[in-house]
Amino acid sequence: MNLANLLHGGDYNPEQWLDCPEVLQEDIELMKKGNINCVTLGVFSWSVLEPEEGCFCFDWLRDIIDELYGNGIFTVLATPTASMPHWMTAKYPEIMQVHADGKKNLPGKRHNFCYTSKKMREKARIIDSKLAEAFGKHPAVLLWHISNELGGNFGDGSCHCEECNLEFRLWLQEKYRTLDRLNQAWWTTFWSHRYTDWEQIHSPMPNGEILTHGLNLDWHRFVTHQMTGFCKWEIDSVREYSSFPVTTNFMYFFKPLNYYELHRCVDIVSWDSYPFWHKRKDEVPVAVKTAAAHSMMRSMKKAPFLLMESTPSCINWRAFNPVKRPHMHMLSSMQAVAHGSNSVQYFQWRKGRGAFEKFHGAVLDHKNKENTRTFLEVTQVGERLAKMSEKIAATCNRPKVAVIFDWENWWAVEDATGPIIDIDYVKTFLMHFRSFWEAGIDVDVINMEDDLKEYRIVAAPVNYLYKEKYAQKVEDFVRNGGSYITTYWSGVVNESDLCFTEKHPLQEVLGIRQEEIDAPGEEFRNEINYKGKAYPVGRLCEVVHAKTAEILTVYEKEYYKGSPAITRNYFGKGNAYYLAAEFGQEFLNLFYKERMLEKELVNPLASELPYGVTVSVREGEENLVFLQNFNDAEAVIHDVEAWVDADTGEQIEGEIKLSPFECRILVEK
Ligand code: GAL
Repeated sequence: MNLANLLHGGDYNPEQWLDCPEVLQEDIELMKKGNINCVTLGVFSWSVLEPEEGCFCFDWLRDIIDELYGNGIFTVLATPTASMPHWMTAKYPEIMQVHADGKKNLPGKRHNFCYTSKKMREKARIIDSKLAEAFGKHPAVLLWHISNELGGNFGDGSCHCEECNLEFRLWLQEKYRTLDRLNQAWWTTFWSHRYTDWEQIHSPMPNGEILTHGLNLDWHRFVTHQMTGFCKWEIDSVREYSSFPVTTNFMYFFKPLNYYELHRCVDIVSWDSYPFWHKRKDEVPVAVKTAAAHSMMRSMKKAPFLLMESTPSCINWRAFNPVKRPHMHMLSSMQAVAHGSNSVQYFQWRKGRGAFEKFHGAVLDHKNKENTRTFLEVTQVGERLAKMSEKIAATCNRPKVAVIFDWENWWAVEDATGPIIDIDYVKTFLMHFRSFWEAGIDVDVINMEDDLKEYRIVAAPVNYLYKEKYAQKVEDFVRNGGSYITTYWSGVVNESDLCFTEKHPLQEVLGIRQEEIDAPGEEFRNEINYKGKAYPVGRLCEVVHAKTAEILTVYEKEYYKGSPAITRNYFGKGNAYYLAAEFGQEFLNLFYKERMLEKELVNPLASELPYGVTVSVREGEENLVFLQNFNDAEAVIHDVEAWVDADTGEQIEGEIKLSPFECRILVEK
C-alpha cells in the first residue's frame, strides 16, 4: 500500500491506553474488521514522547507502528507540536501566546504557543528531528503530518508578544524599506498617524490601533507568514532525516491563515471536515459549503487531497450535536471523494474515557465494541473504498469553471467601513458557487494569483481588492474567449487597501463606469425585471453607466430607476458581465444557467437535477461520475442515457433512482 491508494483510517491515540494492552490488541482486531488501512499517530503525544526535557521515549510508538504494520495498517506520523507538555510551559513561559487584548495564555488547551518564539522553534526542531531519525525511513510510514490545524481552534492563533512585534517591524522594513513608503501605503496622514520611527508600530489591538486598514491587512499577511514559517521550520526539521511527503491539516474557511500561501510548503493538501449535518431538514446549504471547501482543497494543487479528519457519528462542540442519520456517513464520505479526496479519515478511532472530547463521535464507542451502527457504516465505507481504490485514486476533477475566493480580499472587504458593516464574503461566494453545484457542474475555487487559462467561466463575486497584475490577467482571459462575471463592490482598492482613482481597473473589459454605491434600508429595496419576472435586489446597489456594454436589465425603483443593474460587454473573443446589485439565489441560478449554456457546459447526465442532487466528475482513463442525493428521500433523474453503476455493474438507462442520502458512482456504458 502507498499514497496511490485510497486511505481509510483516522486519528489514533494509543498513548492514552498504554496501561491497557488488551485494548491495544482489540484495536488492531477491530481495525481489520472495520477495513481500516491507515492511522494517524502522535498528534498530541509530546508529553509521552518527551516526558521530561531531553528524555525521549519512543519505544511504545515503535511497538505500535510495527504491530500495526504487521497487520497491514500503515501510519501517518504527526509531529506533536500542537500541544505543549507542562514541563515546557513551566520552564519557558515566553513561549505562550499573547492575545489581542494583551492577555498572555496560561498553560493548557492546545495551539496556544507563539509561532515566532525562538524557544518554541528550538524545542520543535529537537523533537521533530528525533522522530524523523527514529521513523523517517520506516516502511509503515506514508506521510508526515505537521503539527495539527495550525492556528488552532481556541482563538485565531495570532500572537501579540514583544517577539512578534519585533519580527513584524522587521517584516515591514523588508517590505517597505522606508517609513515614507509605509506611511503612503497605509495613508497615515489621516488622523495624524504618521510614523517617524519603526518602533512606533504595534500589532493591531483593540486598546490601540485597529482602524488603519493597511496596518490590519499587513498584520494578517504577517500572521500567515509566521505560521507558514513555523510549518516550514517543522518540515525542515523532519527533512533532516526523512524524505517522506509532508502535509498539514487545514480547517474550514479559517480566516486568520491564508491557505493559498500555506499549501505551497506541503506536498499534499489535507483538511478536517466537520459539516453541521441535520442542523435543518434542508441539507443543501451545508452540502454546498462542504463541497466548496473540498473543491478549494483540490484546487490549490489541482490534485487529489486527503480528508484527514471527519466524524463517523457526531461532534461535541456545537450547541447541539446531531448523530449522523443512517446513510449520511457514506454520503458525506463519498462527497469528499467525489470532489477529489483520496482518503476518508476520522477523528477518532476510539473514544477516550475522560477530558474534553470524551463524547465526540469515534469509530469505537465506550461500549459495544463493533456492535454499533456507526461501526457498521464505517466498515461499509472502508469496503467501498477498498474495492474502488484503483479506479478512483488516479483520477481528479478538471473543472471548466472557477469561482474566485481570495483571503486577502476577505480580510480587506470585511475590514472596510462602509457601505455596510457586515459584508459576509464567504456567504456571498457560496451563493455564486451554489448555482454551479445545483446545476451539477464542478468548480475550481481559486485565488487571484491563479492561472485562468484553463477555464471557460470565471466568477469573482465582491472582488473588492485587486492584486497587482490581476486586472491584466482577467483582460487576457476575456480577450482570449473567456466569460468573466463580477459584481458590485469589485475593483475598489489596491493591495495596500488604497482606493483606485480615475476608473475601475477593468473599465474597458467591463464596458461600464461606476458612479456610486447605495446601501438602502429595507423600505427602499429595489427590484429588477428579468425576462418577464420580478426579482428582488438585496442590500447593495451600484449605480453604473454603460459605456460599451449592453444593458441586460435595469433597476425598477428609486432615483436610479432605469439605470443598468446587469450588463454584458463583448471584449476580444470573450465577454464580461457586471452584476451591479446583490441578488438572491433564485436569480443567480437563472443567470448562471444562461452563462453555462452560452459556454456549452452541461452536467454529465445532460439532465435537470432534482433539488438536493448534484454531480461531480473525477476524470481519468475512465471518467467517474459521482451522483449525490442530499435529500432524506428518494430522488429520480429522468431521460438519462446508458450508464453502468461502478460499484454493482448494474446497467442503467432512462431513469436513475437514488435512495435517501445515496451516492452512486457511474461510468459510461
Ligand atoms: C479537530 C482537531 C481534532 C479534534 C477534532 C474534534 O479540529 O484536529 O484533534 O479535536 O477537531 O472535532
